[in-house]
Amino acid sequence: MSTPTEPLRAEHRELVPHLAHILDLADAVTEGTDPELAARVERIHGFLVEDLLHHAEVEELALYPVVARAMGAPEATGTMTKDHVEIGRMVDELGAVRDTLTGGSITASQAREIRRLLYGLHAVVKLHFLKEEEVYLPLLDSRLSEVEGLALIDALRQAGGAV
Ligand SMILES: [Fe+2]
Ligand SMILES: [Fe+2]
Repeated sequence: MSTPTEPLRAEHRELVPHLAHILDLADAVTEGTDPELAARVERIHGFLVEDLLHHAEVEELALYPVVARAMGAPEATGTMTKDHVEIGRMVDELGAVRDTLTGGSITASQAREIRRLLYGLHAVVKLHFLKEEEVYLPLLDSRLSEVEGLALIDALRQAGGAV
């Protein structure tokens, strides 16, 4: 049986394979001239901005207010919002390094910085997804009425979620 939070689980299932790409790229980044490596940094940054941060925005608009109500405390989602802010800050930092790459070459310090950010993003996003899937979504599935569940799905759609 489908649950009210199934659309969010489905969206996570689409995003999760990209987390492995982040880790693979972190392992691969090294100094030197390699246009394909620089292009992979560009692609991962594009995914983070267009898909992952968009997903976080949708949650802020449509999911977290429902979680806060279900937990009976507006502060309940504060720590998870901090995760979103930190993820956004690290993506911005990655974008700033990406902007300094020229001609497909990566210096030793640029490679170090890219690796630091990619490993950090992988760890933070993986844990963040687990917290949502193992704490927030089961909570909503058990507490929302059918009408509230439908309202959540509708709110996610209106906020621009891929559901
Ligand atoms: Fe999130
Ligand atoms: Fe999420």
